[in-house]
Amino acid sequence: MTEPLLDRLFSAALDARERAYAPYSNFHVGVALLDENGQIHAGCNVENAAYPQGVCAEAGALSAMVLAGGRRVAAVLVIGDGPRPVTPCGGCRQKLREFADDALPILVADPSGLRQRYTLGQLLPDSFGPEDLKESSS
Ligand code: THU
Repeated sequence: MTEPLLDRLFSAALDARERAYAPYSNFHVGVALLDENGQIHAGCNVENAAYPQGVCAEAGALSAMVLAGGRRVAAVLVIGDGPRPVTPCGGCRQKLREFADDALPILVADPSGLRQRYTLGQLLPDSFGPEDLKESSS
């Protein structure tokens, strides 16, 4: 990925993180996705007083991508802030899998810069995905 593209993803995720609604955890997350058309879609976490109803930043970014017509995720950048790099939760790894394969780069950053690079295959090995439903015999 080129440096200017990385910068655009980083700044979109940072702006999104500023909008996070996280009054319960106070843990603000911003995500930027690059789609197959070169468009960037962002999301932030949106919590809820009924805690399980909260939505992760990744889910918001995926909804924005689908709404805009994107169907493949080419790269993801997540910004959180903690002692360890903030990777997508298990549920969000599966949500990303719907629109990407093992090679998907998942870049993890904190507000001061990039901390770690993963692929979806590393974070969700041997995953189940849409292809598994295609040749069903029953
Ligand atoms: N969270 C995200 O939005 N994305 C992640 O990758 C990790 C966790 C949110 C969910 C919740 O609002 C808060 O961070 C604390 O778990």
